[in-house]
Amino acid sequence: MSTATVPHPLDAAGLSARFAESFGATPDGVWQAPGRVNLIGEHTDYNDGFVLPFAIDKTARVAVRVRSDSTVRLLSTFGDQGITTTDLTTLKPGTAKGWTKYPLGVLWSLQQRGIKVPGIDLILDSSVPLGAGLSSSHAIECAVVSALNELTGAGMSDEDMVLATQKAENDFVGAPTGIMDQSASLRGAKGHAVFLDCRDQHVELVPFEAEPAGLVMLVIDTKVSHSHADGGYAARRESCELGAQVMGVPALRDVSVSDLTEASGLLDELTFRRVRHVVTENDRVLATVELLSTAGPAAIGPLLDASHVSMRDDFEISCPELDLAVDTARSAGAIGARMTGGGFGGAAIALTPVEKERQVRDAVLKAFARAGLTTPDIFTVTPAQGALRLL
Ligand code: GLA
Repeated sequence: MSTATVPHPLDAAGLSARFAESFGATPDGVWQAPGRVNLIGEHTDYNDGFVLPFAIDKTARVAVRVRSDSTVRLLSTFGDQGITTTDLTTLKPGTAKGWTKYPLGVLWSLQQRGIKVPGIDLILDSSVPLGAGLSSSHAIECAVVSALNELTGAGMSDEDMVLATQKAENDFVGAPTGIMDQSASLRGAKGHAVFLDCRDQHVELVPFEAEPAGLVMLVIDTKVSHSHADGGYAARRESCELGAQVMGVPALRDVSVSDLTEASGLLDELTFRRVRHVVTENDRVLATVELLSTAGPAAIGPLLDASHVSMRDDFEISCPELDLAVDTARSAGAIGARMTGGGFGGAAIALTPVEKERQVRDAVLKAFARAGLTTPDIFTVTPAQGALRLL
């Protein structure tokens, strides 16, 4: 994916009008689903562990109309691809191109669940920066699954929709990802982070608002493109599975910090470091949830910092640009910073006192310019509502 930031050019009525212009009929409805920032809990989801992401105020929107045949026509407001036309009966994993693999993956996945999926016309608009590690692809999938759930009357729960989009990602797109991103997008709430137990999908909404604490949550999009369909993500997943197998547990969720000494004797050095990241990261999620309720957001900075160090040194999923963003933001006054998302590029977050925001932004821009790197995009995010129908 490219890393271009896509502004929201159209509101729901505008998207509906664009749909009518393009497809010659009004849509049945317009749905939106947000991207996410993960506050803490990285690469813990596929280890049955804990995560604490929140839905952000940047969303993908789709206007959709059910057809009476099995044709699928897809159009976006960005790029110059024009209308992609395909047929439901020909959907095959690994064959779709560009952004169309996300809606097509959802249609395919719903078919796999035995849902009678109709042909559709669909137009997509998105303000989630592409490839920035803010789950632009899950935002699309969650908007589409929400639309199809209503339009087909399938009656899927949030938990079902999470699993349906995970299947689309894993088996159609080919990215062996977990359930964090779609859970945040479908189950997020304004002013809250989503504390998710990935073993049973239990969710607790945890109040998280930076502003009342005199803070802002800055996102620094390094513009380093990444894809979880590349080998790095899958390799980390394999190390975790190996670690769990050698430790004799169903998943690394079942290994605690006090088991790490034993683990170091049983595992090779690399697998041990991968395992240590996951085990300590699960602990940091629990500590963050606890601190948010007892002391508020100003207290979680050291946990964000420790998470970054663990990802950089033990899990080795950071990159020089993310490290530069994190280190510079911290030196310029952020109280905690870490890369967010799957890694190997994408974005960092920096929890920053309001009065230091300008200083942090300037310092990061200067550091990137000095290093001869692409200018990062820096913006604030607040926890927002999850997926919903707009029209
Ligand atoms: C990506 C995946 C998630 C999760 C994160 C890492 O965002 O989609 O399932 O594994 O990476 O925490």
